[in-house]
Amino acid sequence: MPAPSTILITGGAGFIGSHTCVELLDHGYSLVAVDDYSNSSPQAYSRVQRIADRFLSAVYRLDVRNTRAVSDVLDHHSVDAVVHFAGKKAVGESMRKPIEYYDTNIGGTTSLLRAMDEHGVHQMVFSSSCSIYGETDKALLSEQDPARPTNPYAASKWACEQILADVCRLRPEFRVLSLRYFNPVGAHPSGLLGESPRGGEVNLMPRLAQVADGERKSVTVYGDDYATPDGTGVRDYIHVMDVAEAHRVALEHFDDAPGMRVFNLGVGEGTSVLELLAVFGETCGRDIPYTVEDRRPGDVSELVADPREVAHEWGWRPTRDLAAMCRDAWRFRQLNPLGYAD
Ligand code: NAD
Ligand code: WQD
Repeated sequence: MPAPSTILITGGAGFIGSHTCVELLDHGYSLVAVDDYSNSSPQAYSRVQRIADRFLSAVYRLDVRNTRAVSDVLDHHSVDAVVHFAGKKAVGESMRKPIEYYDTNIGGTTSLLRAMDEHGVHQMVFSSSCSIYGETDKALLSEQDPARPTNPYAASKWACEQILADVCRLRPEFRVLSLRYFNPVGAHPSGLLGESPRGGEVNLMPRLAQVADGERKSVTVYGDDYATPDGTGVRDYIHVMDVAEAHRVALEHFDDAPGMRVFNLGVGEGTSVLELLAVFGETCGRDIPYTVEDRRPGDVSELVADPREVAHEWGWRPTRDLAAMCRDAWRFRQLNPLGYAD
C-alpha cells in the first residue's frame, strides 16, 4: 500500500500540530485540519502556510467530541490517515478538572474512532505522553516499562492507549502508532511558529523565555532536593521539529506490522532544570535569575527516554540539540512577545 497522502490533523493549530503541518506540507501531503481553538489560534495556520508556501486543503473549527461534525468533514475529504493531537494537556489543571480531561481526551478519541470507522479510515498516529510512566527509578524508560499514571491527564492518555490497543486487537483493519513524547520544546527556526497557548500552566522553557525577556523577574525552580546530580528535576527535552518529523516518518510505517505499536519520542539524554537554565542564558546572552522553592506537587524526579526502538524500527532519530531548542524558542519569543495575540 502506498504511504497515505491526505491526512486529517486534529488539534492542527496547537503547538505540535502546527509544526507537524509545516513538516507534512513540506513533504507534499494534503492536509485537512480541525481544532476548536480552546488552546490555540487560527493564526497558527496563516503562519504554517507562510512557512510552507502551500495551503492546507481545508480547516474546520470543531470539537472532536462532536462525532457528527467530524463525520461531515470526512464526507467531504477522502482521508487516508488521522494524526490525532487534539486534547487537553496540563497536568495541574487535570487535577482540578478531572472530568473535563477524561471527557475531552478519552471522549474525543472514541468519537474520532467512530467517525473514522464510518468512513473506512483505519490508520491513526496518536499523541501519547511520557507522563504515563509516572515515578520511576529507571535511568532510561523503554516502551515495555509499566504505566503508572499519577494524575488524570496521564491516566487519560494511558486509557486512550488501552482503548486503541483493544480496538486494533478486535478490528484488525485498524493500525495505530502511539508516540509517547517526552518534553517537546523549541519552535520553528523561522521564528514564525512556536508555543502560543491561551493562558494555563507555563512549562519550563516558555518560562525561561519570559524571564530572559524581562516579563518576569525570575524563574522558580521547583525543588533542588531530588536524587539527581544537581538536585533539580531531570527531563528529556526534544525539539518540536524533531517531533514533527517523527510524525511524518510514522505515516510511512503503518504497514510494518498489524495492530497498535508504541514508540518513545525523546533524545535519550536527561537535562536538569539548572542545566537548561544555563544553556538558555548562554543562548540568549542574558542572565536568568532564579529562586528555589518547594517541589511542584505531582512532579517526578527524572523522566528520560530509551529512544532505541524508534531508531531501530524506522531508522530515525532526533538531530537537534539543546542549544537549537533554546535558540529557536528564544527567537520565537523575541519576534512574538505576545504569542499570536498580536
Ligand atoms: P496544544 O494545546 O498546543 O494543542 C492541542 C490542540 O487541540 C489545541 O490547538 C487545542 O485548541 C485543540 N483542542 C483541545 N481540545 C479539543 C477538542 N475537544 N476538539 C478539537 N480541538 C481541541 O498541545 P500540544 O503541546 O500541541 O500537544 C498536542 C498533543 O500532544 C496533545 O494531545 C498532548 O496531550 C500531547 N502531548 C503534548 C506534550 C507537550 O509537552 N506539549 C507532551 C506529550 C504529549
Ligand atoms: C520540566 C521541569 C519542573 C517550570 C509536562 C507534562 C508532561 C508532558 C511534558 C504532556 C520539571 C521544572 C518547571 C518552572 C521548574 N506533557 N520546572 N520551574 O512537568 O516535565 O512535563 O510537559 O504530555 O506530561 O507534565 O514539564 O516544563 O513543566 O517541567 O523548576 O517554572 O522543570 O519541576 O522538573 P514536565 P515542565
